[in-house]
Amino acid sequence: MFETDVVIIGAGAAGLMCAATAGQRGRRVVLVDHSTKLAEKIRISGGGRCNFTNLNIHPDCYISNNPHFVKSALKQYTQHDFIGMVYQHGLTFHEKTLGQLFCDQNSDGIIQMLKDEVAKGEVTWRMGTSITSVVAAEAGGFIVETSQETWHCQSLVIATGGLSIPQIGATAFGYEIAKQFGLNIVPQSAALVPLTFQPEDLWPELAGVAIEKAVVSCQNQQFREAILFTHKGVSGPAILQISSYWQPGELIEIDLIPDLDLQDFFANASRDALLSTVLSDVLPKRFVQVWLQTKGEVKPLKQYSTKVLQELEQQLHHWQVKPSGTVGYKKAEVTRGGVDTDELLSKTMMARKVPGLYFIGEVVDVTGWLGGYNFQWAWSSGYVAGLNI
Ligand code: FDA
Repeated sequence: MFETDVVIIGAGAAGLMCAATAGQRGRRVVLVDHSTKLAEKIRISGGGRCNFTNLNIHPDCYISNNPHFVKSALKQYTQHDFIGMVYQHGLTFHEKTLGQLFCDQNSDGIIQMLKDEVAKGEVTWRMGTSITSVVAAEAGGFIVETSQETWHCQSLVIATGGLSIPQIGATAFGYEIAKQFGLNIVPQSAALVPLTFQPEDLWPELAGVAIEKAVVSCQNQQFREAILFTHKGVSGPAILQISSYWQPGELIEIDLIPDLDLQDFFANASRDALLSTVLSDVLPKRFVQVWLQTKGEVKPLKQYSTKVLQELEQQLHHWQVKPSGTVGYKKAEVTRGGVDTDELLSKTMMARKVPGLYFIGEVVDVTGWLGGYNFQWAWSSGYVAGLNI
């Protein structure tokens, strides 16, 4: 059996950050991952361009049973700390929209930066290595048996992420370890994920239509961004965002023409033009055609009563639809739920009742908004654990 100070299981965003931080403090760190490819989720993130953080990081942009839990880690290691590291490594980036920062050198630039930081900490790598057992050692610490060797360590960090994208190595390992040590788990579900609809609730003919600016609401949350109709339902940033709040059985409301006073708009339109032609100035033509199919014969604007036009406006501002589900973990960006934050110390990420055992990143019941928030959680939680192991 080999001796080390720290074993970190999972060499993704949080595990790499934690390994670099602890290694650079002089801790002997072993970083184990069952995958042979490093940080695949970083590689595919942001369409390969890695939306590595957000300028507007705020605790309100995270979902957790305890909304205060994220505050300490996000304060100890901020988006500006990470941006500072990006600068130090000579990388450049740009803001795409809503504070979202993307790396000009793509995901590879961020992965190489993290690899270099880990190398500075003289961390021992064990890629392509599976864990066969984890137990508490009688003399203190943990015994981690892997497919290659057995390690005894004082601190054990679980950074195995959530359940999304099993095709690139996501497993339930972190939750199983938490359960093994008697920690509570908040039930998981796919989040930041397209929603599905029954064909009778949403018309398949809409597939491919995008509405650039919509406001989607559910559970007192609303997001103003694009939506995209698909063959199975709806996607696009506003829908991905709301999916993290949506619970099965609930309705979502979509304002298809936010900020528009449609009666004013009609007042300035040609009274002889067909309603479909007038509406096509504010919504995609195909959407208008499909939407109006359900409302009888399409006539010139002047033939509609004010009451009917007001009802139409009401429907376009408050379109209520009931998703039948989500497309699931195969397409979800993240997993909602995970290790209950009540079980962890927010300053260090250590389990309250198992000294030396830490959980960081997405395995914890913390789910960020779309737009770099989840990576920032991985960096911040990885960093604070790295300072304390
Ligand atoms: P992460 O999943 O990164 O790492 C977990 C590691 O543990 C993996 O290397 C895995 O192989 C390993 N592992 C799992 N089970 C194991 C086991 N049993 N034994 C050993 N190792 C094991 N976020 C963001 O902020 N900006 C973005 O642009 C994007 N884009 C994006 C695109 C797509 C397609 C997805 C799926 C996700 C995103 N995200 C994102 C979310 C982001 O990728 C995610 O929240 C972080 O990678 C989570 O970091 P972790 O380190 O917690 O897990």
